[in-house]
Amino acid sequence: MTLILTTRLISAAKGGPREAAQCLADGGLVAFPTETVYGLGADATNAQAIARLYQAKGRPAFNPLISHVATLADAQRIAIFNENALKLAQAFWPGPLTLVLHKTKDCTISDLATAGMDTIAVRMPAHPVAHKILQELGRPVVAPSANISGHVSPTTAAHVREDLSGRIDLIVDGGPVSVGVESTIVGCFDRPVLLRPGGVPREEIERVLGVKLAPRPAAPETSGPHPLAPGMLASHYAPHTPVRLNADSVTSDEALLAFGPPLPNAKPAHMLNLSPRGDLIEAAANLFSYLRALDGKHARAIAVMPIPDHGIGEAINDRLQRAAVGRD
Ligand code: TXA
Ligand code: MG
Repeated sequence: MTLILTTRLISAAKGGPREAAQCLADGGLVAFPTETVYGLGADATNAQAIARLYQAKGRPAFNPLISHVATLADAQRIAIFNENALKLAQAFWPGPLTLVLHKTKDCTISDLATAGMDTIAVRMPAHPVAHKILQELGRPVVAPSANISGHVSPTTAAHVREDLSGRIDLIVDGGPVSVGVESTIVGCFDRPVLLRPGGVPREEIERVLGVKLAPRPAAPETSGPHPLAPGMLASHYAPHTPVRLNADSVTSDEALLAFGPPLPNAKPAHMLNLSPRGDLIEAAANLFSYLRALDGKHARAIAVMPIPDHGIGEAINDRLQRAAVGRD
């Protein structure tokens, strides 16, 4: 796509949220920090703005978007909350949890955002900048991660600029995000289902619900007329460099993404350690920026040490597996 716009960058501390809300109200595309990753926002009721958003990201229009809201009351205007959904919202909102629910009859969200489905994904972000923007605008904002579709999600304003400069109107810089992986997505129907592991660990959700979450369908993007999580394409979050998982050794022409104590006798061309002390939360926060940094070294491959699969480790491993599938 040709470059079409001058992308302005504004600090969150210098009136960013107010300017962002104005720009969104005018149909603009605004990247802003959430606690998980930077999102690329558009007014969720403005079909034209959402069409531009899909184009700016290069995202297939059959892949629906999450509507972000400031309050539970705002969420209840667009989505029907059953008992489980209410329990989860009360326990984890604001925070890194997205609920997929049936739309209300008078839901004002553009059909383009929900890709024509009768369900909607809703989330109340905890980041103060995201919250302020939503409050100022007074309408829900759709926001996928602010990267070119299929690329690694952005955790800083600089990452957003690398991917989307010239394609969007405004970037609000609120510093690096805290969580570092996207929200957990739970489908709240008869049996609650984990559609995407993310910032809230599965174990915490199961504790609140008192039941195990059903596993997400194996190939949701291709299954049936109503795919449960159409965005869960196998190849996603992909760096350009091939990714090799569960590495217990590394060659001198590889880059090493380490976790915990270093590999014995390892002399990789480049190395970054997600968390030398083996802390999964710290590892999640570093994941996408370290993947981007190692991708920039043009090594033969990025070797990744094993990451434990519990807590937020499930989301880290999910993203790494997608990164390892690579892109055509
Ligand atoms: O943490 C996050 O969730 C970030 C920040 C910006 O809020 N957003 C994010 O959005 O990750 P995105 O567009 O990259 O991922 C949204 C996912 C996609 O996999 C999409 O298919 C799924 O949510 N989704 C959206 N609406 C859905 C629906 N009605 N049913 C099932 N899945 C849905
Ligand atoms: Mg994304």
